[in-house]
Order: sequence, then structure tokens, then C-alpha cells
Amino acid sequence: MRNRVIIGGQWGDEGKGKIVDALSRDVDWVLRYQGGANAGHTIHIGADKHVLHLIPSGILHEGVRCLLGGGMVVDPWALRDEMIGLEERGFRVRDRLFVAGGAALLMPYHMRMDELREAKLGRHGIGTTGRGIGPAYLDKVQRTGLRMGDLLLPTERLERKVIDKVLSANEVLGALYQAEPLPARVLAEELVVLAQTLAPLVVDAHLTLAGVRAGSESALFEGAQGTMLDIDHGTFPFVTSSNTTVGGALTGTGLPASALGHVQGIFKAYCTRVGNGPFPTELLGEPGDRLREAGGEFGATTGRARRCGWFDAVAARYAVEINGLDGAIITKLDVLDTAESVPVATAYDLDGVTTEVYPTGGEDLPRCRPVYRELAGWRQPIGSCRDLGDLPAPARRYLEFLEQVLGVPIVGVSVGRDRAQMIWTPTGVSG
Ligand code: GDP
Ligand code: IMO
Ligand code: MG
Repeated sequence: MRNRVIIGGQWGDEGKGKIVDALSRDVDWVLRYQGGANAGHTIHIGADKHVLHLIPSGILHEGVRCLLGGGMVVDPWALRDEMIGLEERGFRVRDRLFVAGGAALLMPYHMRMDELREAKLGRHGIGTTGRGIGPAYLDKVQRTGLRMGDLLLPTERLERKVIDKVLSANEVLGALYQAEPLPARVLAEELVVLAQTLAPLVVDAHLTLAGVRAGSESALFEGAQGTMLDIDHGTFPFVTSSNTTVGGALTGTGLPASALGHVQGIFKAYCTRVGNGPFPTELLGEPGDRLREAGGEFGATTGRARRCGWFDAVAARYAVEINGLDGAIITKLDVLDTAESVPVATAYDLDGVTTEVYPTGGEDLPRCRPVYRELAGWRQPIGSCRDLGDLPAPARRYLEFLEQVLGVPIVGVSVGRDRAQMIWTPTGVSG
């Protein structure tokens, strides 16, 4: 069985959690490789709803082992709470969840810095999730942060280390934001208690993933956020602080490129974005509200209303190219069930010139106006379709058009939030 990397093709919330869950049944490992609890992956199984922030979506399958890779920033309080939540709902977690010792430890002062910085910037802020992601990555890149492996230290050394870190973070909080200091000793004691639960999960990922490296165990890589939020290739500075694109799967797990297998992008049948930054196909006012209502577009992590718009094929093609996608999965097609027509942006108008090339560099994208191609809507519910042939002809034509503009086969279509609401199309939708 070939390994697979699942990557958000847009601005996050494409339905990666649902797809990873649907694909996890037969894999040995599901690996998260970047980001932290800024992610919110929602999975519906019958009447049950599960929201995961740190733990890979594969955890909902009994036989699957899950790893939080070294490229992540891990909030140990959030991780413990998420484990407890899953266990309370009857999932076995402890002996099949692992955390790379090299993963950065996200501390309450990171969260505080994130909040204070955003508050200071006001409407010029990034609109982060407030989970401390940027400051935690800063601490890592600055080579000063704690790591999950520190939880294995003898109690006194761990306490000393945490106290030192909190005291220097307090200096920054005071100097930059005139903020109250955080209680160093209390946090050190809390971390010692957390270590009792979390230290047994900490592994040397290089050794733990030996079977994946050797090809005797299979892996599904679960991306968080999306291509347009990538720190290097996204809409900087309105991005997250990690590589959400394919390179993150390598650096964030330590596995070689040969372990990646298929690289597949998840795209909503339209677009959403949470937080600030350019979004060429955004629909303001009533049309946007209609999509938001139909799609239930409210953030799983912060509850914020997501900005909504039509499918942006220019940005999507860029995602195909940046990640070298060999397939795409379209989600939430059912959300368009009532639309009279379904526009797709096939080009941008940039200062009067039509271009099909996505402008990198950050200066031009805010001035790009979408050039739409209108496709007919299907005006009927598709949630019970399980085969391409069950879909109404206009829905099939919409998918064929997306496949054509993406330039890679659409290998799956999600027609509802439930685990079972999938149409698999391994050879594409164009027949
Ligand atoms: P992720 O962050 O990429 O995992 O996506 P989220 O879970 O944040 O957001 C996707 C939302 O859409 C979740 O509430 C899912 O339950 C829901 N969802 C996923 N696929 C479909 C679909 O095909 N149709 C509908 N209506 N909802 C879906
Ligand atoms: P999943 O994995 C959508 C956005 C935030 C903000 C920017 C930076 O559920 O797709 P951060 O807290 O990371 O510093 O915020 O990135 N963002 C997401 N948007 N889905 C996510 O994750 C996101 N994680 C971060 O809204 O614009
Ligand atoms: Mg999400």
C-alpha cells in the first residue's frame, strides 16, 4: 500500500480531518508534522462529532498508531485535555499515541504573547487563532524554546529549566507589553505533573518510524492549515508559522522523500478563509452569508465566522504546483446543492491585465479581481450519492471542470460531513 500525504489546498478547513479519518482504516501510522492546536479537524461518525486539534485524526481507528512529529508545536495542557476527552468517549489512546522528543513545547507565555501582539496590532493584526503558534515557533527558531523531550528530565532539572524560561518570557512580556508576569514556580509544578502523563508518549521519532522508513509499515501524513497559509509560500504575512506544504511532511517527521508516496490536496468545492489577508474570490454581504450558512462555516478552534467565496482555480493550480500534487479530493460539494450557478475563478484581472498566473510576492494579490466562468448549478440534494453516476449531470460537469483546471485527477468527492458520505474516484472524474 502506498503512503499518502494529505495537504490543505486552500486556506485551511478544507475537510482534511474527515478525509484522513476516511483513509485511516488500513494504515499503520497517521502522522501530524506541523502546526499545533491552531488546527481544528472535525469528524462526524453517525451522531457523534469529534474535534481534534493536536492528535491526528487516525486516532478514531482502533488499530492505527499516531505520532505528533518534531515539526509541531505542542501545548501539553491542550494535549492532555484532548487525550482525556477521547478516552472519556471510549477511545484507547495511551498505547498508540506518540510524540517526537524534538517537537517544540508551547507554553502559556507563547499564548499570552500571541494575544497581546494581536491586540496591539488591532485590525492590522493577522487574526491568529490565539493559540501561541507564532511565538512558539519563534522560540524554536531562536533556539531557546523547550522541547517535548525535556519532559523526560529529572524533576528538579525540568523545574529549573521551566522557571528560567518563564522568567525570561516575563521580561519580554513586561518590556513589550507592560504585561503582568506569569507565575514561574506554579507553571513549573504544573509541567512536572503533566510530565507524568505525557513523558511516556515521548519517543525518538527516528527509531519509532523505522518501519515506515523501511517500507514495512504504512503512513498517512495529516497536514494542518492549508497551502495559502504556508510560512514560505502563502500570503505572507497573513500566514501561519509552519510549512503547511509538502516540505513540512519531510522536515516535520524526519522521514525521507521516498516515504511520502502520493501527495493529495484537499479542496473545498468553494473557498473559505479565517483571519485577515487577501482572498480574491471572497463574497461579501448576502451571497457570502448564504455560503457560510449552507456550509456551517464557523471555526472549529475559535468559533469565528469564516470568510466565504467561490472556487479559486488560479490559487488552486498554484497549490498543485507548489506541492507536486498527484491528485485532488473535493469536499463539501453538497454545500452548493441550492446554488443556481456555480462560478469558478479561472483567471485574475490585475490592473486591467488578465492573468492565469498566481502572483507570488504578496504585493499584487490584494489587487487581483477574479475572472469567473459560470457553471450551471444542480439544484438537488446529493448527500446520498455514493457513485459518480449517482450525481446529477451538472454536478459531474462541475467536477470535470475542476479536474480540467487543476490538471490532476480528482480521486475523491465528499458529499456530506459523515464518514460514509464519500464518492471514491481513483481514476478521476472525467471518464
Ligand atoms: P479541516 O481543518 O481541514 O479538517 O476542516 P474542518 O474540520 O475545520 O472544517 C470542515 C468542516 O466541514 C467540518 O465541520 C466537517 O464536519 C465538515 N465537512 C467535511 N466534509 C464535508 C462535506 O463533504 N460536506 C459537508 N456539508 N460538510 C463537510
Ligand atoms: P486547520 O488545520 C484555518 C489561520 C488563522 C490566521 C493564520 C495564523 O483546521 O485547517 P495562527 O494561529 O496559526 O498563528 O494563525 O492562520 N489558521 C487557520 N485557518 N484553518 C486552520 O487550521 C488554521 N490554523 C491557522 O486564522 O489567519
Ligand atoms: Mg479546521
